[in-house]
Amino acid sequence: AGKRTFTMIKPDAFGAGNTGAIIKMIEEAGFKLVAGKITHLTKELAGKFYEVHKERPFYGELCDFMSSGPIMAIVLEKDNAVEDFRKLIGATNPAEAAEGTIRKAYAKSVGENAVHGSDSDENAAIESSFFFSKFEEIA
Ligand code: CMP
Repeated sequence: AGKRTFTMIKPDAFGAGNTGAIIKMIEEAGFKLVAGKITHLTKELAGKFYEVHKERPFYGELCDFMSSGPIMAIVLEKDNAVEDFRKLIGATNPAEAAEGTIRKAYAKSVGENAVHGSDSDENAAIESSFFFSKFEEIA
């Protein structure tokens, strides 16, 4: 399994001041931060990031939400990073998220669900390169 994954602290969690608490959960779970930046996506950029979902009924809502306020983009490193991080964030729908997960603690709904996590090593690399050059990630 690959060693890196990509996450975003989404506008709901960033705006609520939960970024520090979420990063603390991430570090306590054994992940190292290897790149990070705070930015505010335009609707167009959010649309590009989530292009794989463009045929989904929630695509417009998703792009509106992801451009509604600042986010923090972070590259994380750990053995088995992609799979372990998806366990740490919990189910997309916070009503189904397990106790101890980030979404159980901080997500509001299926759309406003506090954090993103890449679903494969390939997508982790693609999503990281959307925000960071290789020179911005710690070697
Ligand atoms: P994320 O893991 O960032 O990737 C795709 C996102 O689409 C997902 O998190 C959810 O926030 C969002 N999403 C999935 N299903 C729905 C839905 N039914 N309504 C709104 N947003 C959704």
